[in-house]
Amino acid sequence: MATMVESGNILGFKCVRCGKETPDAKGYVCPSCKSNLDVVYDYKAIKARLTRKSLDDNPDKSVWRYKDILPIARYKGVPIVHIGGTPLYKAERLGADLGLSNLYLKDDGRNPSASFKDRAGAVAVAKALELGERVITGASTGNAASSMACLTAGLGLKTIIFLPEKAPVAKIAQLLVFGAIVIAVKGTYDEAFDLCLKATDEYGWYNRNTGHNPFTREGKKTCSFELVEQLGWQVPDKVFVSVGDGNIISGLWKGFKDFHALGLIDRLPQMIGVQAEKSDAIKRAFESDGVIRPVSGDTIADSISVSLPRDGDAAVKALQESKGFAVSVTDEEILAAMRDTARRESVFGEPAGVTSVAGLRKAAAQGKVKRDEKVVALITGNGLKDVASAMKAVGKPHLIAPEKEELKRLVKEHKIA
Ligand SMILES: Cc1ncc(COP(=O)(O)O)c(C=O)c1O
Ligand SMILES: [Zn+2]
Repeated sequence: MATMVESGNILGFKCVRCGKETPDAKGYVCPSCKSNLDVVYDYKAIKARLTRKSLDDNPDKSVWRYKDILPIARYKGVPIVHIGGTPLYKAERLGADLGLSNLYLKDDGRNPSASFKDRAGAVAVAKALELGERVITGASTGNAASSMACLTAGLGLKTIIFLPEKAPVAKIAQLLVFGAIVIAVKGTYDEAFDLCLKATDEYGWYNRNTGHNPFTREGKKTCSFELVEQLGWQVPDKVFVSVGDGNIISGLWKGFKDFHALGLIDRLPQMIGVQAEKSDAIKRAFESDGVIRPVSGDTIADSISVSLPRDGDAAVKALQESKGFAVSVTDEEILAAMRDTARRESVFGEPAGVTSVAGLRKAAAQGKVKRDEKVVALITGNGLKDVASAMKAVGKPHLIAPEKEELKRLVKEHKIA
């Protein structure tokens, strides 16, 4: 594997689990315990450059407006499509349904490949280019892969994807359209992940796997920076996040901690992780001894269908440190959240994209969220990513012959007008 050249912003890396410090990420993971590495920044130096004023004056609305607190030293040929800068909506109608007066939805399905993963992909691809890598590989439930394929298109990086053969067809279509080499694995995401690691060992490709490559979390944290800025430098009380591997929630937590360490905010939110009922390894660990143990991973929300979460340690830590909590929801509750979010707020999320909303509904009904709290639910992926699941949330269209009489019968029968 190529030697990693680290950015001037970075002091080094620290293991999420055992705390061992290491100067580089050549082996991706902790040399002692093999858990994930966290990037350690030189906050003192960054503080001099990154201020509320410097951000207010910065016209760039993409993730690159946060270059000062990203782990890239040399930007050469980074993806040019617009990543980040996604809308934050005040969700008045959904909020009223849930008994909340300060609810916001952050729609990250509005990214170039239609999921939150573009934030991670941005930084991982920029790092691969900085290192002069020629081939980038990754295993994915679908979105991380379609993002990588989208962001590397035209950049001269060969992209090799491993994903479960049962991934939604729209995500596979994205991969092929963007020109990635797609290896569909007859097995689960977890099996695709392990095979991808073996491929990296065998061929020396640059590996972007979630919860393995330490830089994906760094891209994901840009969402927290945007949230704080979009809220006029206010910090939400609670942030609801759909959780699979645990990289998004730990990335968001890192973002809030970064801004806090830089003195840009003076308090931190509670992080609330929402998992599908049978894919809840992080919830189980958080509510017991903190140790991640595999579960079945079975859920309609394919993007968070994970047996053994790869960034579980960091996710449990985010819940613990932020004094947050975890919620699990059924597939039916996820499908209901898909309808609610679309019909009340015009945001169409894929099942994993709206799992956060399903968890929020449950937590609010249990009295775990106060009426006036400033709450953000993150929508992590667009509903068009998985139309087959969306159809399970809704009925079928009315089918008639192109005849006026048939139309009149239908209108009467269904009281349409
Ligand atoms: C749409 C969507 N939501 C949520 C997640 C969960 O993120 P993580 O696996 O980092 O917990 C993913 C991950 O693939 C995703 O694609
Ligand atoms: Zn370690």
